Amino acid sequence: MSFLTPRLFALASMVSEGEIVADIGTDHAYLPIFLAKDGKAKKIYATDVALKPLSVAKNNIASFGVSDKVETMLADGIEWTIPNNIKLDSCIIAGMGSSTILDILKKDNVNIDCYIIASNTNLEPIRKWAKQKKYFIEKELLIEDNKIIYELIKINKFAGYKIKNQLDVLFGPILRKDNNKLFLQKWLKEEQKILDLLKQIPVKDKKSKEFLKYKKNINKILKRRTLINE
Ligand SMILES: C[S@@+](CC[C@H](N)C(=O)[O-])C[C@H]1O[C@@H](n2cnc3c(N)ncnc32)[C@H](O)[C@@H]1O
Repeated sequence: MSFLTPRLFALASMVSEGEIVADIGTDHAYLPIFLAKDGKAKKIYATDVALKPLSVAKNNIASFGVSDKVETMLADGIEWTIPNNIKLDSCIIAGMGSSTILDILKKDNVNIDCYIIASNTNLEPIRKWAKQKKYFIEKELLIEDNKIIYELIKINKFAGYKIKNQLDVLFGPILRKDNNKLFLQKWLKEEQKILDLLKQIPVKDKKSKEFLKYKKNINKILKRRTLINE
């Protein structure tokens, strides 16, 4: 399907065969349409908090002939799963910033087993949340789309990799051990961003200390990676 961007395609690859899925903040519903056409998901709920995108989603779903498999819903976040008594294998939350995603995750409930997440911002707060909840990371992926490197994760409540320490929270328990070229690119770019920010703030500033600590962790992981690649 030509409309599917590399990021959406990678998100689809994180869904397992036969899952019941929801795409929260579906907008155009391209991902649910692909999952329905591909036959991978058993049933897909395409939800959005706003009426306009939801009506675009409904039109797209109808024109691709997948209305039998994709159900639309006007809803804020994931709370709707409880009153509707809907159990989800995976809940996709993508294309928003981590603070919006965290607001949605505050309503985490027993009807949802996994979360597939691609944030527009740093994933650190999401992994921190998963660690606090004692959830696992089942999959992690890096994907380049339109010159942006996205981190994708699948959080599983029952099985996967443990998030053991701050390095796992920052870089991902799977990604930080995987020999991936995009990983190196992403964190070299982030290191440069921090160096530029440090030039703009006084050394005594509280933020400066935080950035230095962050930079130290980036250096630690980059050093280890360079050793792997040697
Ligand atoms: C930029 S689009 C992302 C579309 C698609 N998920 C993607 O990754 O390409 C963000 C969508 O999320 C919706 N949204 C934002 N907050 C939401 C919430 N709390 N619950 C449901 N949808 C939300 C917006 O209305 C918008 O349509």
